[in-house]
Amino acid sequence: MKYELQPLPYSYDALEPYIDAQTMEVHHTKHHQNYILKLNEALDAHPELSEVSIETLLKDVSKIPQDIQTAVINSGGGHYNHEIFWNSMSSHPTVLQGNLKDAIAASFGDEESFWKQFSAAAMSQFGSGWAWLVVTPDRRLEIKKTNNQDNPVSHGDTILLGIDVWEHAYYLKYQNRRAEYISAWRSLVNWDFAQRVYETISHP
Ligand SMILES: [Fe+2]
Repeated sequence: MKYELQPLPYSYDALEPYIDAQTMEVHHTKHHQNYILKLNEALDAHPELSEVSIETLLKDVSKIPQDIQTAVINSGGGHYNHEIFWNSMSSHPTVLQGNLKDAIAASFGDEESFWKQFSAAAMSQFGSGWAWLVVTPDRRLEIKKTNNQDNPVSHGDTILLGIDVWEHAYYLKYQNRRAEYISAWRSLVNWDFAQRVYETISHP
């Protein structure tokens, strides 16, 4: 099974003015596509893994054959992370509600406090990487950040939301102003996606 780049759930210009169409198109058709090509190249050497999902591979990287371990973590992680990133954004406003709203209030204070902490994590990620809202194995909500294409599923967590803070995610529009990109991203966040994943954790 070869991985293929899937269409985005919205058009490239659907997230304007917060993220411009050119950034979205380059990010999807060049960066994400390249992770997929390199992942497929790595897996070519191990046809026995052709039916294993990328999520399963990333959940226990110690089981990935040594000769492709780094490639799967970097390129497979890149593919997996970007799928989550596209779904973490919505072209129409969504609302934090229900049991996820309650859980966020219990973990971080109110929604405003959550955004302060999430933004601080995204801002303080040094160099390329990600900030995440996750559910830990003991079912606590936490904000985490990872370097490069490392991701929380490799550490036992379930991802509800992820923001890409590699410069390629924002540089064309925001240049070095990562704080403005993070602030704009708040208008795009897809709480419906986070809620759907949270339901699978709450009611396994
Ligand atoms: Fe990216």
